[in-house]
Amino acid sequence: MTLNLSYYHVASDVPDNNSEIAVVIDVLRATTTISWALTNGADSIEVFSDLELLKDQAMKWDPDKRLMLAERGGKKINGFDLGNSPLSVTRKIVEGKRLFMSTTNGTKAFQKVQDSEYLFSMALTNRKAVAERISSLNEGNVLILGSGWEGSYSLEDSLAAGALAAYLIKHHSSKVNIINDELNAALALWNFWKGDILKCLRTATHGKRLTSIGNYEDDFKCCAQIDCLNVVPTQFERGVIRTSKYYE
Ligand code: MLT
Repeated sequence: MTLNLSYYHVASDVPDNNSEIAVVIDVLRATTTISWALTNGADSIEVFSDLELLKDQAMKWDPDKRLMLAERGGKKINGFDLGNSPLSVTRKIVEGKRLFMSTTNGTKAFQKVQDSEYLFSMALTNRKAVAERISSLNEGNVLILGSGWEGSYSLEDSLAAGALAAYLIKHHSSKVNIINDELNAALALWNFWKGDILKCLRTATHGKRLTSIGNYEDDFKCCAQIDCLNVVPTQFERGVIRTSKYYE
Protein backbone atom coordinates (compact mmCIF):
# COMPACT_ATOMS: atom_id res chain seq x y z
CA MET A 1 0.00 0.00 0.00
CA THR A 2 1.20 3.52 -0.81
CA LEU A 3 2.37 5.41 2.29
CA ASN A 4 1.71 9.13 2.74
CA LEU A 5 4.10 10.49 5.35
CA SER A 6 3.79 13.87 7.04
CA TYR A 7 5.78 15.34 9.91
CA TYR A 8 4.87 18.01 12.46
CA HIS A 9 7.42 19.60 14.76
CA VAL A 10 5.10 20.00 17.75
CA ALA A 11 1.60 18.99 18.88
CA SER A 12 0.05 22.42 18.25
CA ASP A 13 0.89 22.12 14.50
CA VAL A 14 -1.09 18.90 14.05
CA PRO A 15 -4.32 19.27 12.04
CA ASP A 16 -7.53 18.06 13.66
CA ASN A 17 -8.18 15.12 11.37
CA ASN A 18 -5.73 12.57 12.74
CA SER A 19 -4.11 9.99 10.45
CA GLU A 20 -4.66 6.27 10.85
CA ILE A 21 -1.08 5.84 12.05
CA ALA A 22 0.71 8.24 14.40
CA VAL A 23 4.35 8.01 15.45
CA VAL A 24 5.52 10.08 18.42
CA ILE A 25 9.21 10.94 18.70
CA ASP A 26 11.16 12.36 21.64
CA VAL A 27 14.76 11.30 21.09
CA LEU A 28 16.03 13.32 24.10
CA ARG A 29 14.73 11.40 25.93
CA ALA A 30 11.17 10.16 26.57
CA THR A 31 10.74 7.78 23.63
CA THR A 32 14.30 6.45 24.00
CA THR A 33 13.47 5.71 27.65
CA ILE A 34 10.20 4.02 26.63
CA SER A 35 12.03 1.83 24.09
CA TRP A 36 14.53 0.68 26.73
CA ALA A 37 11.93 0.21 29.48
CA LEU A 38 9.86 -2.14 27.31
CA THR A 39 12.97 -3.94 26.06
CA ASN A 40 13.92 -4.49 29.70
CA GLY A 41 10.59 -6.09 30.52
CA ALA A 42 8.40 -3.24 31.82
CA ASP A 43 4.78 -4.38 31.64
CA SER A 44 3.48 -1.07 30.28
CA ILE A 45 3.88 2.69 30.37
CA GLU A 46 1.05 5.09 31.08
CA VAL A 47 1.75 8.67 30.02
CA PHE A 48 0.42 11.80 31.76
CA SER A 49 0.90 15.52 31.31
CA ASP A 50 -0.61 16.24 34.73
CA LEU A 51 1.50 15.16 37.73
CA GLU A 52 -1.40 15.02 40.23
CA LEU A 53 -3.39 12.76 37.92
CA LEU A 54 -0.31 10.58 37.51
CA LYS A 55 -0.02 10.17 41.30
CA ASP A 56 -3.76 9.46 41.70
CA GLN A 57 -3.66 6.73 39.06
CA ALA A 58 -0.41 5.24 40.35
CA MET A 59 -1.78 5.02 43.91
CA LYS A 60 -4.53 2.68 42.63
CA TRP A 61 -1.87 0.22 41.44
CA ASP A 62 -0.13 -2.53 43.47
CA PRO A 63 2.87 -0.72 45.11
CA ASP A 64 5.18 -3.62 44.19
CA LYS A 65 4.25 -3.34 40.54
CA ARG A 66 4.38 0.40 39.92
CA LEU A 67 7.03 3.04 39.33
CA MET A 68 6.49 6.77 38.99
CA LEU A 69 8.73 8.64 36.51
CA ALA A 70 8.67 12.42 36.28
CA GLU A 71 10.91 14.97 34.63
CA ARG A 72 10.66 18.73 34.19
CA GLY A 73 13.34 20.85 32.55
CA GLY A 74 15.54 17.76 32.12
CA LYS A 75 15.61 16.98 35.86
CA LYS A 76 13.95 14.27 37.94
CA ILE A 77 11.22 15.63 40.20
CA ASN A 78 11.69 14.99 43.92
CA GLY A 79 9.39 12.36 45.36
CA PHE A 80 9.21 10.29 42.15
CA ASP A 81 11.01 6.97 41.70
CA LEU A 82 12.84 7.89 38.52
CA GLY A 83 13.40 10.78 36.13
CA ASN A 84 13.59 10.35 32.37
CA SER A 85 16.94 8.72 31.70
CA PRO A 86 17.01 5.65 29.45
CA LEU A 87 19.92 4.43 31.60
CA SER A 88 17.72 4.27 34.69
CA VAL A 89 15.16 1.79 33.32
CA THR A 90 17.28 -1.34 33.82
CA ARG A 91 15.73 -4.80 33.86
CA LYS A 92 16.29 -5.08 37.61
CA ILE A 93 14.26 -1.93 38.21
CA VAL A 94 11.44 -2.09 35.63
CA GLU A 95 10.73 -5.76 34.91
CA GLY A 96 7.02 -6.56 35.31
CA LYS A 97 6.16 -3.01 36.39
CA ARG A 98 3.66 -0.43 35.16
CA LEU A 99 5.51 2.84 34.64
CA PHE A 100 3.50 6.03 35.29
CA MET A 101 5.38 8.68 33.32
CA SER A 102 5.29 12.43 32.81
CA THR A 103 7.89 14.48 30.92
CA THR A 104 8.08 18.13 29.89
CA ASN A 105 7.11 17.64 26.25
CA GLY A 106 7.03 13.99 25.20
CA THR A 107 3.95 12.92 27.08
CA LYS A 108 1.98 15.93 25.71
CA ALA A 109 2.74 14.80 22.16
CA PHE A 110 1.23 11.38 22.92
CA GLN A 111 -1.95 12.99 24.17
CA LYS A 112 -2.36 14.97 20.95
CA VAL A 113 -2.59 11.85 18.75
CA GLN A 114 -4.03 9.32 21.17
CA ASP A 115 -7.17 8.83 19.07
CA SER A 116 -5.23 7.47 16.08
CA GLU A 117 -6.00 3.91 15.09
CA TYR A 118 -2.36 2.97 15.64
CA LEU A 119 -0.04 4.97 17.88
CA PHE A 120 3.65 4.08 18.10
CA SER A 121 6.46 5.52 20.17
CA MET A 122 9.73 5.82 18.26
CA ALA A 123 13.29 6.88 19.02
CA LEU A 124 16.43 6.34 16.96
CA THR A 125 16.99 3.12 18.93
CA ASN A 126 13.87 1.43 17.48
CA ARG A 127 13.49 3.24 14.16
CA LYS A 128 13.77 0.09 12.01
CA ALA A 129 11.34 -1.91 14.18
CA VAL A 130 8.69 0.83 13.99
CA ALA A 131 9.25 1.35 10.25
CA GLU A 132 8.76 -2.34 9.54
CA ARG A 133 5.60 -2.42 11.63
CA ILE A 134 4.23 0.54 9.64
CA SER A 135 5.10 -1.22 6.37
CA SER A 136 3.22 -4.31 7.50
CA LEU A 137 -0.05 -2.46 8.17
CA ASN A 138 -2.78 -1.98 5.63
CA GLU A 139 -3.04 1.76 6.26
CA GLY A 140 -1.63 4.60 4.21
CA ASN A 141 -1.54 7.87 6.17
CA VAL A 142 1.27 8.22 8.67
CA LEU A 143 1.57 11.26 10.90
CA ILE A 144 4.98 11.66 12.52
CA LEU A 145 4.99 13.99 15.51
CA GLY A 146 8.00 15.46 17.27
CA SER A 147 7.84 16.56 20.89
CA GLY A 148 9.93 19.70 20.52
CA TRP A 149 10.64 21.86 23.53
CA GLU A 150 7.78 23.82 25.11
CA GLY A 151 6.05 24.32 21.79
CA SER A 152 9.03 24.91 19.55
CA TYR A 153 11.12 22.96 17.04
CA SER A 154 13.64 20.32 18.05
CA LEU A 155 16.59 19.24 15.94
CA GLU A 156 16.87 15.71 17.30
CA ASP A 157 13.20 14.81 16.81
CA SER A 158 13.39 16.11 13.23
CA LEU A 159 16.52 14.02 12.67
CA ALA A 160 14.63 10.90 13.75
CA ALA A 161 11.60 11.81 11.60
CA GLY A 162 13.97 12.03 8.63
CA ALA A 163 15.57 8.71 9.61
CA LEU A 164 12.15 7.01 9.63
CA ALA A 165 11.20 8.49 6.24
CA ALA A 166 14.58 7.48 4.74
CA TYR A 167 14.13 3.89 5.95
CA LEU A 168 10.61 3.66 4.52
CA ILE A 169 11.62 5.20 1.17
CA LYS A 170 14.36 2.56 0.87
CA HIS A 171 12.56 -0.53 2.18
CA HIS A 172 8.78 -0.15 1.86
CA SER A 173 7.48 -2.35 -0.95
CA SER A 174 5.16 0.31 -2.46
CA LYS A 175 5.37 4.02 -3.16
CA VAL A 176 6.17 6.47 -0.33
CA ASN A 177 4.92 10.06 -0.67
CA ILE A 178 6.43 12.87 1.36
CA ILE A 179 3.44 15.10 2.07
CA ASN A 180 4.89 18.23 3.66
CA ASP A 181 8.03 20.36 3.64
CA GLU A 182 8.63 19.69 7.33
CA LEU A 183 9.42 16.12 6.29
CA ASN A 184 11.46 17.18 3.23
CA ALA A 185 13.57 19.27 5.61
CA ALA A 186 13.81 16.40 8.12
CA LEU A 187 15.07 14.09 5.37
CA ALA A 188 17.74 16.63 4.42
CA LEU A 189 18.70 16.88 8.09
CA TRP A 190 19.05 13.10 8.35
CA ASN A 191 21.23 13.00 5.23
CA PHE A 192 23.43 15.74 6.68
CA TRP A 193 23.87 14.29 10.21
CA LYS A 194 23.46 10.52 9.80
CA GLY A 195 27.23 9.96 9.96
CA ASP A 196 27.52 11.72 13.32
CA ILE A 197 24.26 11.39 15.25
CA LEU A 198 25.98 12.02 18.58
CA LYS A 199 27.24 15.38 17.38
CA CYS A 200 23.72 16.30 16.26
CA LEU A 201 22.32 15.50 19.73
CA ARG A 202 25.04 17.55 21.43
CA THR A 203 24.40 20.45 19.01
CA ALA A 204 20.63 20.50 19.61
CA THR A 205 19.40 23.13 22.08
CA HIS A 206 17.94 20.44 24.34
CA GLY A 207 21.32 18.66 24.22
CA LYS A 208 22.95 21.89 25.33
CA ARG A 209 20.30 22.35 28.04
CA LEU A 210 21.06 18.89 29.44
CA THR A 211 24.82 19.53 29.26
CA SER A 212 24.33 22.76 31.22
CA ILE A 213 22.60 20.97 34.13
CA GLY A 214 24.78 17.87 34.48
CA ASN A 215 26.80 15.12 32.88
CA TYR A 216 24.48 13.52 30.34
CA GLU A 217 27.19 12.04 28.08
CA ASP A 218 26.01 8.46 28.62
CA ASP A 219 22.41 9.48 27.95
CA PHE A 220 23.51 11.07 24.66
CA LYS A 221 25.39 7.91 23.65
CA CYS A 222 22.36 5.78 24.47
CA CYS A 223 19.93 8.07 22.61
CA ALA A 224 22.21 8.25 19.54
CA GLN A 225 22.19 4.50 18.87
CA ILE A 226 20.30 3.66 15.71
CA ASP A 227 18.21 0.48 15.15
CA CYS A 228 19.61 -1.36 18.18
CA LEU A 229 16.24 -2.37 19.72
CA ASN A 230 13.61 -4.59 18.18
CA VAL A 231 10.67 -3.17 20.09
CA VAL A 232 7.52 -1.45 18.80
CA PRO A 233 5.92 0.47 21.69
CA THR A 234 2.23 0.63 20.82
CA GLN A 235 -0.74 2.30 22.49
CA PHE A 236 -3.21 -0.46 23.39
CA GLU A 237 -5.61 1.64 25.44
CA ARG A 238 -5.77 5.43 25.78
CA GLY A 239 -2.43 6.61 27.15
CA VAL A 240 -1.08 3.13 27.84
CA ILE A 241 1.82 1.77 25.80
CA ARG A 242 3.02 -1.82 25.54
CA THR A 243 5.11 -3.85 23.13
CA SER A 244 3.41 -4.84 19.91
CA LYS A 245 3.60 -8.57 20.68
CA TYR A 246 0.16 -8.05 22.23
CA TYR A 247 -1.22 -7.52 18.71
CA GLU A 248 0.47 -10.27 16.71
C1 MLT B 1 10.74 15.85 27.30
O1 MLT B 1 9.70 15.20 27.36
O2 MLT B 1 10.74 17.05 27.13
C2 MLT B 1 12.11 15.21 27.38
O3 MLT B 1 12.04 13.86 27.35
C3 MLT B 1 12.98 15.89 28.38
C4 MLT B 1 14.17 15.12 28.91
O4 MLT B 1 15.26 15.16 28.35
O5 MLT B 1 14.05 14.46 29.94
